[in-house]
Amino acid sequence: MDGTRGYFITGTDTGVGKTVVTLGLMQWLQDRGHRVAGMKPVATGCVPTPQGLRNDDAQRLRQQASIELAYEAVNPYAFEPPMAPHSAAAAAGTRIDLDRLEAGFAELRSRADRVCVEGVGGWLVPLNGGETVADLAVRLGLDVILVVGIRLGCLNHALLTRRAIEASGLRLAGWVANCLPPPTDTLKENINTLKSMIYAPLLGVVPMLDTVSAKAVADRLSLPAAGYT
Ligand SMILES: Nc1ncnc2c1ncn2[C@@H]1O[C@H](COP(=O)(O)OP(=O)(O)OP(=O)(O)O)[C@@H](O)[C@H]1O
Ligand SMILES: [Mg+2]
Repeated sequence: MDGTRGYFITGTDTGVGKTVVTLGLMQWLQDRGHRVAGMKPVATGCVPTPQGLRNDDAQRLRQQASIELAYEAVNPYAFEPPMAPHSAAAAAGTRIDLDRLEAGFAELRSRADRVCVEGVGGWLVPLNGGETVADLAVRLGLDVILVVGIRLGCLNHALLTRRAIEASGLRLAGWVANCLPPPTDTLKENINTLKSMIYAPLLGVVPMLDTVSAKAVADRLSLPAAGYT
């Protein structure tokens, strides 16, 4: 599979800035003339609305997209309980089917020239009895971008995830250092350590932002030309 169809955005954990970086990446690609769609294949902690269950990440990806997309096209699996996806699916009496997600991705891909897919939680979060987020990324055949939430414990999480991405056979297009609040003294040191231990390029350092926006993040990103064309 070539790496030009888009990116799979994973993170060192839940709440580390995957959505913030995905929106910034979409903006970055849009600024370069690409027609971009976003996808949140599986979301938990969704809110019931008259239109059905809705997830904030998915709504934001949908808003950022260059094309009009039905909510269900962006987020095929939406669950209300804020629990691990395989448990939430079981509680809803269903099972997350990677064939369905692959077909949904193909549909988005046919309408946009780049699709940015945000994972759920971290890289090895179970999606059903036997498959994880990593298996989904492999099915989609996308290059991976790893968002590292810079905070205490991130070195171990980042290096474990790097190793697991390598083991999947997918290409790690690069990683983004996302400086989460609260500020830490070891920020630069942590970033430099990871730079020396992750072979893939550092695509950007996103500082702690007072106002988080796709543009503010896009301004801090830089993807090597070969990595996105
Ligand atoms: N660089 C930053 N500066 C300030 N706030 C940030 C930054 N990055 C992320 N945040 C905030 O941290 C929270 C978590 O970010 P985000 O929702 O992008 O994480 P996530 O990895 O997508 O989480 P989830 O696993 O729930 O999908 C959000 O409230 C976001 O606005
Ligand atoms: Mg998110």
